[in-house]
Amino acid sequence: MADTWEHLKQDCMQCRGCALADTRTHVVFGDGATDAEILLVGEGPGQREDEQGIPFVGKAGLFLDDMLEMIGLDRSKVYIANIVKCRPPQNRDPLNVEQDACIGWLRRQTALLRPKIIICLGRIAAKVIIKEDFKITAEHGRWFERGGVQMTAIYHPSALLRDVSKRPETFEDLKSIQTKIREICPVHS
Ligand code: URA
Repeated sequence: MADTWEHLKQDCMQCRGCALADTRTHVVFGDGATDAEILLVGEGPGQREDEQGIPFVGKAGLFLDDMLEMIGLDRSKVYIANIVKCRPPQNRDPLNVEQDACIGWLRRQTALLRPKIIICLGRIAAKVIIKEDFKITAEHGRWFERGGVQMTAIYHPSALLRDVSKRPETFEDLKSIQTKIREICPVHS
């Protein structure tokens, strides 16, 4: 039977595919428009996200909302998800075994959404989605094509909060994203 958002979410909310299930408060499935042409992918939920069950609602999330606004977007025009759906303790990087256990959910989300553009938020998402040896410092803002989908990565919003010197480059990346959206997503132009 064909997958639906409803079935997928129901399945995902009950997932016990790795040890993060033991420490989570909520599964953080995703947020935004399920018919969006643009998919944003972060790393994994932090404390606020775990509490509320919604991605990017903490400090990094507020900063992400500001960045989206700068290029005429908001959560009603994109879909936001993470590589892992449950919070890694102490906000450590998700382990490979956790990423491997969880990636099927993002694959199914992507298959349902069929986005034209995927924006990876940070190194971890870029390594999983674009290529294993992705170097965020050298390759942020570059465009890659995979199976007809345009993909790029920007610094993670948390990195931009920590290190303001990365913001001018990210501003250029955001302008490039805006240009790409105008080219291939006419609904946003
Ligand atoms: N950082 C992420 O990568 N994802 C979230 O949902 C929140 C913070």
